[in-house]
Amino acid sequence: SARENIPSPSGYPLIGNILDVQDEVPIRGVERMIDLYGPIVKLNFMGTESIFIGSAELVEELCDEKRFWKKPPSALSDLANKKAGPDGERAHRGMFSAPSEEDPDWQQAHRTLMPAFGPLAIQGMFDEMHDIASQLVLKWARMGPDDRIPVTSDFTRLTLDTIALCAMDFRFNSFYQDDMHPFIQAMNSSLSAASDRSKIGSMLKKLLPWDRTDQKVAQDREFMRKVSREMVQHRQDNPTEKNDLLNAMIHGKDPKTGERMPDGLIGANMVTFLIAGHETTSGLLSFAFLNLLQNPETYFKAQEEVKRVIGRGKMRPEHLKELKYIDAVLRETLRLTSTIPAFVRSIRSDNPNDFEHLLGGKYAINRSDPVICLIGKSQRDPKVYGDDANEFKPERMMDDNFVRLPKGAWKPFGTGVRACIGRAFAWQEAQMVMGLLLQNFNFRLDDPAYKMKVKQTLTIKPEGFYMRAALREGVT
Ligand code: HEM
Repeated sequence: SARENIPSPSGYPLIGNILDVQDEVPIRGVERMIDLYGPIVKLNFMGTESIFIGSAELVEELCDEKRFWKKPPSALSDLANKKAGPDGERAHRGMFSAPSEEDPDWQQAHRTLMPAFGPLAIQGMFDEMHDIASQLVLKWARMGPDDRIPVTSDFTRLTLDTIALCAMDFRFNSFYQDDMHPFIQAMNSSLSAASDRSKIGSMLKKLLPWDRTDQKVAQDREFMRKVSREMVQHRQDNPTEKNDLLNAMIHGKDPKTGERMPDGLIGANMVTFLIAGHETTSGLLSFAFLNLLQNPETYFKAQEEVKRVIGRGKMRPEHLKELKYIDAVLRETLRLTSTIPAFVRSIRSDNPNDFEHLLGGKYAINRSDPVICLIGKSQRDPKVYGDDANEFKPERMMDDNFVRLPKGAWKPFGTGVRACIGRAFAWQEAQMVMGLLLQNFNFRLDDPAYKMKVKQTLTIKPEGFYMRAALREGVT
């Protein structure tokens, strides 16, 4: 078959296409290139070439684990602990930012921790998740129906407290203080430094001798490591029988080698789970409520389902699998606003077949090329989702339709062995929070004219979104 060149706007010497993709929301700038050049485009940033794709068909091809694997962009690997700590201990990487599945730290953590995220383990966390979600209900109940609820920051308190309690039996108590826990402050400031770095202004700033970003990031990281070490130490001094993630990390043996995880690797993964375990779910919940409020007929259906399935009593674990419409709302929300809007693939180094390095049968790519799957685009592919692909319609995500989707059409949790380990955790938490909130409150937009505005750090969230909540009568 005839080969074709990958479309590529010409750009400038040195900076390449940086100006072509300038946008308040960085990922939107790149997505625009897909609108202009088609489902595949090659861009050059400061001499580094990357390929971006935006169709469900090409994403499906990139998800072939025999040909491709995950290779993360520098912003994410930046989060990993690159240098050894002051105690000279070897540097370890958390699972998310491991450079590849060949990394021995990733392999050990993957094998040791998979069971801790299985369906039974997650069901066992029901009561703790319910505890934190009830704190949110209480907070909103105490506010009057005319108070403005800062949706995204309250959901962030919720998801962070939930992962810390379920995984480490640690209470951040974020609902009870104005300032977030110092660990969270350090985490947020190192995250925003990592995402600033991908912007042109900070690239230039980095050339200046007085730029102190790196120093601050190093301090924040060291602080997070210190808190993690203390949490591990605290557990070792105060053993519990609890079947949580921290115990799985401390006592679990690698089924292949029989070895336990070294302290540094435990610490790195604690930071990873606290970060990966909250930002994404908080964004999902925020967008889900926004979608419901902007599409009242879907809000009504979701509320009817909660009335029918849960009624007015206490929510129980068996209710969750009956929440079919809520499932569809969450899936449709992740389709339109995937909180991790892209993931990276590249040719496996153990794939010897040169002919397979053609994408779509005609676009040649190199081993060194990162290929970025823009799922914000592929999940709106009109070939799969039709002319109304940009509209919020949970009906298309009800079980019968969902199972029939082409494989590359819905990938908000990534793919293959590096796919999200916390998917079942996030799902149970999101179902429960949707259920409890719809059971207890009537919501409305604070500003009926609010238009969705997206803010991107490492994940995306709606910005400036407020709602109001009036308690429903007769709920206990
Ligand atoms: C990996 C999405 C919740 C922990 C991933 C990846 C995606 C993702 C797309 C793969 C990234 C890539 O290929 O580069 C999400 C979404 C969530 C969510 C949309 C919520 C709606 C969670 C939770 C946890 C978690 C609750 C922890 C409890 C992780 C970890 C990885 C990961 C550790 C790395 C897995 C590996 O490399 O083996 N997630 N995630 N995530 N996620 Fe999640």
